[in-house]
Amino acid sequence: MRGIIDILDLSVEELDGIISVACDIIERPEKYAQICRGKKLATLFFEPSTRTRLSFEAAMYELGGNVLSVSSADSSSAAKGESVADTARVVSCYADIIAMRHPKEGAALVAAQNATVPVINAGDGGHCHPTQTLADILTIYREKGRLGNMTVGLCGDLKFGRTVHSLINALSRYEGVKFVLISPEELKLPSYVKNDVLKKKNIPYTQTTDLLEAMPELDILYMTRVQRERFFNEEDYVRLKDSYILTPDKLRTAKQDMIVMHPLPRVNEISVAVDADPRACYFKQVLNGKYMRMALILMLLKEAGTI
Ligand code: NCD
Repeated sequence: MRGIIDILDLSVEELDGIISVACDIIERPEKYAQICRGKKLATLFFEPSTRTRLSFEAAMYELGGNVLSVSSADSSSAAKGESVADTARVVSCYADIIAMRHPKEGAALVAAQNATVPVINAGDGGHCHPTQTLADILTIYREKGRLGNMTVGLCGDLKFGRTVHSLINALSRYEGVKFVLISPEELKLPSYVKNDVLKKKNIPYTQTTDLLEAMPELDILYMTRVQRERFFNEEDYVRLKDSYILTPDKLRTAKQDMIVMHPLPRVNEISVAVDADPRACYFKQVLNGKYMRMALILMLLKEAGTI
């Protein structure tokens, strides 16, 4: 059964299709309100989450379906030592589709290899997070009217930030995209993304530690949280956590139509004073994520012959 483990598991054409279904859902939600009646989504979240899990669940409810949920590792048989493979086989007996978040890189892939229903990766460790990218892509499309020909600044924890890895993969397939990678030395983009995606595809990029210097050329500024849970020691986290704090003052040299994005949750990286700026799009991303997850669930359930 096909799973969506990496954003590249969706072709550009499929991604276009998901965007157009999501836009149709926004226009005509009533048309979709009963499509998944009697169908069940299982959300298996072995790592903390507010948005992603509730977004998947809201998406399924808005399609008329039902939800089964595990919201922490302690409350499931994972605490007894059950393998991801076994859990996936078991849950396939109860649900028509699975969304899984796990602290280990590759866990969703193992789940997909063992499940008999489609599995969607809702974040696997510091690796990738394809459905956050769906939210990001719809936001860029709705705000900028295009997915190519732009300079995208990615700022913060580029090493452990899985949303950044997936977004780079997705945007690298469009013409005219240039990346500005803004991070402290220790939190630079991993070489598997830099070499296998940017260098291999000849995508223009620059690396800097200086957000202010990069600001004027950006069409998108994608801020990220320093991923505390992936650090080996608290001291390093404390030293790096406030490397970048976006304030209204720092936005003075930004383009008038630049958009500020963040997958959320934010800690300190964007001051709340920025929220009032019309360029702040992070709460729009949240809503767009729900529509894209609805469209993705529909695509996968149709493909599996479930609806
Ligand atoms: C992100 C994640 O879980 O990777 N959150 C989310 O799903 N919106 C980003 C983060 O936790 O920093």
